[in-house]
Amino acid sequence: MSKAIGIDIGGTGIKGALVNTKKGVLLGERIRFDTPEGASPEEVIAKVAEIVEQLDRDKDTPIGICFPALIKDGVTLSAANVSKDWVGFKAEKLFSKALYRKVVLLNDADAAGVAEIKYGAGQERKGLVLMVTLGTGIGTALFMNGKLIPNSELGHLEIDGVDYESMASYSAKEREGLSFADWAKRLTKYFNMVDRLLSPDLIIIGGGVSKQHEEFLPLIETKIKMVPAESKNNAGIIGAAFIARRRLKPD
Ligand code: BGC
Repeated sequence: MSKAIGIDIGGTGIKGALVNTKKGVLLGERIRFDTPEGASPEEVIAKVAEIVEQLDRDKDTPIGICFPALIKDGVTLSAANVSKDWVGFKAEKLFSKALYRKVVLLNDADAAGVAEIKYGAGQERKGLVLMVTLGTGIGTALFMNGKLIPNSELGHLEIDGVDYESMASYSAKEREGLSFADWAKRLTKYFNMVDRLLSPDLIIIGGGVSKQHEEFLPLIETKIKMVPAESKNNAGIIGAAFIARRRLKPD
């Protein structure tokens, strides 16, 4: 069977599961730990090793890890909501060392987007498709005719002189106690800027809050077609596992 481990590292939790990469579904339970305070590389790597140990000790099982940063050639080049020690850190190499096998590291929103394009709301979609995850930050994954253009980082668009992730992420809504209607006003501003710059054919809305899409998607005033993600908050795990399987052990 085609399987791989997917791990999703975030500012608040580290989650992992074994994934059937043919079907894009979890094989068994998902394991979750709170992200250690400060999210230093050493502590995060140790937690990931613990998850892998519990999931599958077979060194032949590919591992895909997704992380909230710009990632190039296995190096984490930014650090949002995690320790600044990740900036310029050779993360892929160090994860491989700790897990005794090759791993693939990619941006968390890119991983979630891959899952949606492959198995979810983005299947068979042509043109420019943007996946946007609304969580602690705003993550984006850009696809042209199904092909990922990595590290788009459009959550950091500057609007009204501020990094707009700080205004329109789900954590901003929670922090400021915004109603869905007030949050939707900010999302309207954000998505209209995205539209002016890129004219996407479709936007897929992900992140845990996408489960409540009926509360806010209809309130966003934009002409862009928008749909909720299908795999909800396991998309990162599933996408990371899929990419790892494809790169490290193609069927
Ligand atoms: C980071 C992205 C990440 C997103 C979602 C942003 O702050 O810059 O790399 O994809 O948060 O976690």
